[in-house]
Amino acid sequence: TKKVLLFCDPGIDDAIAIMYALLNPDIELVGVVTSFGNVTKEQATRNAAYLLQIAGKSDIPIIPGAAQPIQQENMVYYPQIHGDDGIGPIEPPEDLIYHVYPFDTIRVLIEHYKDELIIVDVGRSTSLASAFILFNEQIKKVGAFYLMGGSFFRPGNVTPIAEANFHGDPTASNFILKFAHNLTISPLNVTSDAYLTPEVIDEISQTVKNPYYLMVRPIFQYYFHAYKKLAPDIVGAPIHDIVPLIMMINPSVADYLYYDVKVVEQGDAKGLSYADLRPNGVAGQTRIGMKLNYDIFLEEVKKVMEM
Ligand code: BDR
Ligand code: CA
Repeated sequence: TKKVLLFCDPGIDDAIAIMYALLNPDIELVGVVTSFGNVTKEQATRNAAYLLQIAGKSDIPIIPGAAQPIQQENMVYYPQIHGDDGIGPIEPPEDLIYHVYPFDTIRVLIEHYKDELIIVDVGRSTSLASAFILFNEQIKKVGAFYLMGGSFFRPGNVTPIAEANFHGDPTASNFILKFAHNLTISPLNVTSDAYLTPEVIDEISQTVKNPYYLMVRPIFQYYFHAYKKLAPDIVGAPIHDIVPLIMMINPSVADYLYYDVKVVEQGDAKGLSYADLRPNGVAGQTRIGMKLNYDIFLEEVKKVMEM
């Protein structure tokens, strides 16, 4: 099994990624780092705690991370996509009790699992960049890194050209892109095609026996309607954050190119990701997802979510 430390900002697609990680017998979720992004850090933490509790997995450490990006500006959250509390119509109960672990737990987990540990970041980059700064020696031991972020040959989502995770803290994203080894990124050009339709969700929610069966449908419906408001013609809604986890389990879910990636940190192009993809461009170290293999994606999602 793959030992995964997940950095996230739940967020509906983050929530689905957490469910997928918990339900997949080939994944052992060893910790969840929660940060600002789709919602505040506090709300992201509550949501993650609630999702773990529903699955009876409250023993998995929840580690609150960053509350704001490095270049502090006015914070922007995304209730129009994820709902006021981050997971659509679902609200964690007021009396939810949960325990949080200090940030240093990340170091402890790395020391414990060493190269068996895989770090997957599906939120803004601030917390993971902070872990690189604080635990610069230990983090070299991590086996591999997967990020959801960026966009190549496709529009952005939070600006015409920028994807939300890399736009949210581009300085932190650049830090990770520069220092992470064995790095795979799953950009919008892959994840925007990783959509589920209401029909597939109905099918999943009728067959599931897992603890999330009551939640999957209302959460997804909320998300689908939010996306439909933006683009009335769509047939499904993209669940971006599940994709890097599927890439880790089954790399053939996408095609890849190897280049170094950078992100524009300032100005109108803030958050724009780029690589030297010219025919004579210099190949680099980052494995960049280019195109989704939809059939493999759907098969993987159904296999796990219907468990
Ligand atoms: C990414 O941004 C967030 O809003 C989603 O959860 C996902 O991680 C997509 O750009
Ligand atoms: Ca996310």
